[in-house]
Amino acid sequence: MKISSNHYYYFATVLAILLIVPSDAQLSPTFYDSTCPDALSTIRTSIRQAVTDEQRMAASLVRLHFHDCFVQGCDASILLDDTTGERVALQNNNSVRGFEVVEAAKQAVEAICPGVVSCADVLAVAARDATVAVGGPSWTVSLGRRDSPAAASRELAENDLPRFTDSLQTLISKFANKNLTERDMVALSGSHTIGQARCVTFRDRIYGNDSIDPDFAITRRRNCPQSGGDGNLAPLDEVTPNDFDNNYFRNLPQMRGLLESDQVLFSGGSSDSIVQEYITNSDSFSSDFAAAMIKMGDIEPLTGGSGLIRRTCGSNLPIIDSSTYQNSLFSKFE
Ligand code: HEM
Ligand SMILES: *[C@@H]1O[C@H](CO)[C@@H](O)[C@H](O)[C@H]1NC(C)=O
Ligand SMILES: *[C@@H]1O[C@H](CO)[C@@H](O)[C@H](O)[C@H]1NC(C)=O
Ligand SMILES: *[C@@H]1O[C@H](CO)[C@@H](O)[C@H](O)[C@H]1NC(C)=O
Repeated sequence: MKISSNHYYYFATVLAILLIVPSDAQLSPTFYDSTCPDALSTIRTSIRQAVTDEQRMAASLVRLHFHDCFVQGCDASILLDDTTGERVALQNNNSVRGFEVVEAAKQAVEAICPGVVSCADVLAVAARDATVAVGGPSWTVSLGRRDSPAAASRELAENDLPRFTDSLQTLISKFANKNLTERDMVALSGSHTIGQARCVTFRDRIYGNDSIDPDFAITRRRNCPQSGGDGNLAPLDEVTPNDFDNNYFRNLPQMRGLLESDQVLFSGGSSDSIVQEYITNSDSFSSDFAAAMIKMGDIEPLTGGSGLIRRTCGSNLPIIDSSTYQNSLFSKFE
């Protein structure tokens, strides 16, 4: 094929644009290096303390970041204290937690650089630091997300977030909708190696399902009655519930996955081989998990002039502080 000089310039321009525009929508690990150099160490101190105070908090923070990113992108929309939107979606209501821990980390950052670091970034960093605090892998968090002006709707959350009753195919497609592969989905599910689930999420499985280890079902029935006790907790990984390891995957071939959505990952389908790989090679799980968390953290961020930097993660109301109020009055008269 003969390439004319016009074509040549066209291709050169396209190539230049591809090289300039980063694939992760302008997020960058060094985003706060000059505007708030101590942001990351401040968040880390705050999160480490929270996990020391309560081990389960590590799990809750990882899940909060996931539920933020899957609904309208990683924009801290889930943190808005709203009683009609995504917060009360089936998958979130009486379930997601850790809000006060994220708020405390955010306020620690506000104290050193007010109005600079978004709640969405605080949450993304918190999820990483929480993972590390319970022995999981680390990764470099890309930064520069901005916060949403409003919460997402309950309908959007109920549609986009996976459910514990979803089939393997549905799980794969809900992750594909966020540009995450089946392998990403299995690796990310590995965070069920920490944390707890309520009786209401695994009751049907321990009373009605054939594909469960009978001894495991009996054990779990003790604290999860057939009716009542909906909020009673059980560890998602019964063996090492507070350690971020690959034990979650070891449970699956033994038919000891707690949720139906855990067990479907090892049920004769396409993900069996991935589970098997993560059992025999925990380094492969660690590196896939870290890579998938970075991909998840890149879902539809608000950047540049979109969104805002909230002062309080739970609300978008401006803080009327007398000095900024006076400054804004002055700037009006100038
Ligand atoms: C594959 C689809 C998934 C489904 C159906 C699912 C479902 C659930 C359910 C039902 C619970 C228990 C909630 C409760 O009882 O209140 C839970 C807990 C949890 N999930 Fe998932 N999840 C999925 C994927 C993920 C992913 C991708 C992550 C993170 C990257 C994650 C992290 C967690 C953590 C850490 C907990 C424990 C939270 C705590 O103790 O506070 N899950 N999940
Ligand atoms: C959320 O949970 C609260 C407290 O249990 C309950 O009163 C409310 O009806 C629930 N909201 C939705 C939308 O399910
Ligand atoms: C998935 O990738 C496509 C193509 O790059 C992009 O247009 C879309 O916004 C992405 N979706 C999400 C949820 O990130
Ligand atoms: C039992 O759990 C398996 C997943 O391990 C699932 O495929 C199946 O649909 C469940 N059966 C019932 C009756 O809920």
